Amino acid sequence: MTQMKAPFQDYFRTLIGEKDAEQFFSSIEKKVMGPRSIRVNTLKITKKALTKWFKSQGYEVADSPYSSDGIELTGAGVEWALKMPYHAGFTYPQDAASMFAVEVLDPQPGEFVLDLTAAPGGKTTHMAQRMNNTGVLVANDMDTHRLKALRSNLSRLGIVNAYVSRMSASKMADIYPETFDRILLDPSCSGEGLFVTNEGQPNYWNKKGLKHFSGLQFGLLRSAFRMLKPGGRLLYSTCALNAVENDGVVEDFLAKTPEAAVDANAMKELKKKKIKVPVQLAGLQGIRFWPHKTKTKGFFCIAITKTAAQPSERHEERNSLRVLKKDERKIYDVFLKDHFGITVKDCEWVPFEHHLFLVGKDLLRLPPPMGFSLALPALKTYENEEMKPSHEGSVFFTSMATKNVIELTKEQMEKAMKHEPLELKGVKEGMYFSKYLDFPIGLLKVGSQRTELLVPKMA
Ligand SMILES: C[S@@+](CC[C@H](N)C(=O)[O-])C[C@H]1O[C@@H](n2cnc3c(N)ncnc32)[C@H](O)[C@@H]1O
Repeated sequence: MTQMKAPFQDYFRTLIGEKDAEQFFSSIEKKVMGPRSIRVNTLKITKKALTKWFKSQGYEVADSPYSSDGIELTGAGVEWALKMPYHAGFTYPQDAASMFAVEVLDPQPGEFVLDLTAAPGGKTTHMAQRMNNTGVLVANDMDTHRLKALRSNLSRLGIVNAYVSRMSASKMADIYPETFDRILLDPSCSGEGLFVTNEGQPNYWNKKGLKHFSGLQFGLLRSAFRMLKPGGRLLYSTCALNAVENDGVVEDFLAKTPEAAVDANAMKELKKKKIKVPVQLAGLQGIRFWPHKTKTKGFFCIAITKTAAQPSERHEERNSLRVLKKDERKIYDVFLKDHFGITVKDCEWVPFEHHLFLVGKDLLRLPPPMGFSLALPALKTYENEEMKPSHEGSVFFTSMATKNVIELTKEQMEKAMKHEPLELKGVKEGMYFSKYLDFPIGLLKVGSQRTELLVPKMA
């Protein structure tokens, strides 16, 4: 049974009243969550096509009420049917409340967007799809381990419009003053919203934690806001439900920042888009998802805008991203064209550590953050001008390829995924993209002795 200490219970009883507090505690105790929630990566597949797939595999599918990119699965479908689209980068398992954040922030194609505390990238990848992989998305986080997960999610979902960085927020604000149209700040918090899942730890909750997190959040909010263009939108969100971190931080910030105001347009836009907004309790500020009401994780968010420019010092000039010149990239473009029939459009190549990263042209519009990395290592390069697509590149390019794509049977795909050798009759030695139905699987190396899939083991 979940332990909830008396100070935790007292705090929430006072905040939202006895009746709702009891229901909230009960949802924590029983771990009550709604159906399995998945976000569709619309850069790779439509919601309609993916819905059809899940239905064909025995699931019942409903639209998420909180985001137009979300679906909810119920029923006794096969587990395997979930893994295929995940592996192909068609899906991101994500709670409906988290998807709601990007509905409110509403990033647009071509914009400059910052995710200051981005890892593991649920909301970053959602933003990239809303931007249609154009514009510039800076995905920053301080945690090296979590940055790895962020990069892996970005490449799995085929994101080419992102810089990944590990910079302190204040340093970043020095190099990017009033630069971004939209900013997400989703920092670490006391996480009461996660107490309905096994991730949450209600027995560690204490009031000192709220003070500690609210101090960190205030500092991050101040830096994030410095980077917002006048008229831009900043979404401050947490998976905390208390009012010291959420309302407390925002109220203090608004009081000390004359250029900041709550962005009233955000709510109007949600109404227009017919996105459901959860009912609020006890007149608290911002939008809260209470698990006992929404059957999601708990979540808080509020949109803030900049009503006037802030005084800022001139920042140092920085160089833009160095990409391969026309004559330097020719061998790679010719390789992809000759071998797979692919013409790479609207993208540039950036060489780094024996890989060529594929990036959208828009990335040249913003000088990169310090010590940055990129999301999609599409080609592996060797000395002697040898090259081959990486796993990430193979999954990314398969739908564009017009030749050397092998369609596997279900038995072959299952064998390949377990790294067992395959027998493919009448196929010449060489490199092939492989797919099963419409799901890209990875790079298949057909040799004289052995044919195998060069792919990381399936999750
Ligand atoms: C709630 S998680 C972000 C989840 C992410 N938005 C998503 O949807 O996948 C908070 C993140 O903030 C990062 N973080 C905490 N303090 C930070 C700081 N000072 N600067 C940058 N990132 C920070 C943590 O490493 C963590 O990855």
